[in-house]
Amino acid sequence: MPHDLTLISTIAVSFALAFVFGYIANILRLPPLVGYLVAGIAVGPFTPGFVADTAIAGQLAEIGVMLLMFGVGLHFSIADLLAVRRIAIPGAVAQILLATAMGLGMMMLWGWTLGAGLVLGLSLSVASTVVLLKALEERSAVSTPNGRIAIGWLIVEDLAMVLALVLLPAFAEVLGGHAAGDAHGGHGAGNQNLFMVLGLTLVKVSAFVAISLILGPRVMPWVLRQVARTGSRELFTLSVLAIAIGIAYGASTFFGVSFALGAFFAGMVLNESDLSHKAATNSLPLQDAFAVLFFVSVGMLFDPTIIMREPVMVAAVVLLVIVGKSLAAFAIVMILGYPLSTALTVSAALAQVGEFSFILAGLGLAHGLMPKDGMDLILAGALLSITLNPLTFSITDRVTKWIRANPRLKAKFEDGRQTHFLALQGELEAARVKAAAKAAAHKTFSPEELAERFPLFTGLNPEQREVLVLHFVLKTYQPGERIIRAGDEADAVYFISEGEVEVSVNGRKISRLHAGDYFGEMALITGQPRSADVTALDYSKFATLSQRDFRRFLQRFPDIRKQMAAIAAERGEMNRQLLEDEPEETTPKSA
Ligand code: CMP
Repeated sequence: MPHDLTLISTIAVSFALAFVFGYIANILRLPPLVGYLVAGIAVGPFTPGFVADTAIAGQLAEIGVMLLMFGVGLHFSIADLLAVRRIAIPGAVAQILLATAMGLGMMMLWGWTLGAGLVLGLSLSVASTVVLLKALEERSAVSTPNGRIAIGWLIVEDLAMVLALVLLPAFAEVLGGHAAGDAHGGHGAGNQNLFMVLGLTLVKVSAFVAISLILGPRVMPWVLRQVARTGSRELFTLSVLAIAIGIAYGASTFFGVSFALGAFFAGMVLNESDLSHKAATNSLPLQDAFAVLFFVSVGMLFDPTIIMREPVMVAAVVLLVIVGKSLAAFAIVMILGYPLSTALTVSAALAQVGEFSFILAGLGLAHGLMPKDGMDLILAGALLSITLNPLTFSITDRVTKWIRANPRLKAKFEDGRQTHFLALQGELEAARVKAAAKAAAHKTFSPEELAERFPLFTGLNPEQREVLVLHFVLKTYQPGERIIRAGDEADAVYFISEGEVEVSVNGRKISRLHAGDYFGEMALITGQPRSADVTALDYSKFATLSQRDFRRFLQRFPDIRKQMAAIAAERGEMNRQLLEDEPEETTPKSA
């Protein structure tokens, strides 16, 4: 090849094979992700034929994880996270401890060292974000309370793994490995070092969370709004990607948090912006494409010979992930007093392992804590548990149905355990209502409503309406309040969305305007001072356009400009005539 085409060949072959195998999987009524995994094995280094670049595929997969977590953040607010904290925090922590203990015990029985067992146990204790989200998405369960609980649980797991990733190197020596690249070295300094590392990590993570929660909501939605106002779809998509991937990368570089967590916070920060929906739609196709590459890259790492070499160990690992972890999660949720259906959903959602496990295992390998076989075992566990995950879900679905069909069981395991669940549901609902109210307070109206309310805008296409709506600033006035004073300088044009106003010149009532009408355009068009007083008669709401935005708008739409100029001229003419003809106060109706 004349120059290095590794990236292109990796993407091309991965997409093509993922498509072919995904399609075949679909025909065989298997989930498409099984096809993607098989495609990965086919282009991996352990099978003959074309070999794609595992390092590049891994990086592409990371982009998939970022975009996916960004998407979750877009639909997941801080209030949601707080609503599920009572189950997600103790649940995730207890589950990590239990699963790690199980893995550790199993491996120690097998004669592995403490360090090796610990790395393997920890790796198997965290579930994959991608797999969990895909599974919830497929069941339309992302926004259900059970889905929220599973996601919250996963976020806590992710946070715990951030700690595990920094603690592992610090503990490597104690656990029988070597502190790879440890510049501070020195045995005596070990403990002190550990506290320093731990403290620094906590400070960095807290700084990241604080910055994203305090600064983020002020800056990010504003940036997105400005970009959206340009009306360029391309720039908007670009800004969304820049925010998602840029923040994820920055978070990991400067604050040491994972890409996934960084992207999640980026999404959550944008969540309350009225543009979050648009951002989600724009990033969806890329999200899908890169999530496919995630599964391909998992398949690529897999060495199928491990199944022949260590069949019993593979089986044990898979059982631990699918059965052991599920049972642990199930027991925890039940002990916390939630309904059986919640316990089943959470345990099925978490009965798999993925990206975090590989990262952790890779680190264990680098520090000489775990043999190479450990990595292969984890990969086998990941591959099989991911493939079997849909089956796990369908089993839990069946059990749930069966229990719900049986009145006695239902009363005992579902109806009798609603207290905590209902409280949580109430909190989620309250968060939703609050968010909706907040959005409504800022929102003028939807692009469709715009055309319905103002005949002037019927000629705009949906895209143009959407951009125009973004330029509007909502203003409200009380009855009797003066909105415009004759002779003042013009600053904005007002479109009446609710209420009624009265126009008067020299104290003479000239006209009343209602919802759907507009005023304040004359001075902006003619460049003269305000021609009349305008007073609110009712509690009124206006969508206003600033002078600058209005000028640009007229430039872009000469037809509308013509219409408005004609009406402005008519109004001017009418005022002149009325003032000449009818010296008394009148209130004729006019447009
Ligand atoms: P402007 O001159 O910017 O500020 C006062 C506004 O009152 C003016 O724009 C028009 O929008 C509105 N206005 C003035 N005269 C009339 C009229 N005869 N009928 C309806 N609206 C009017």
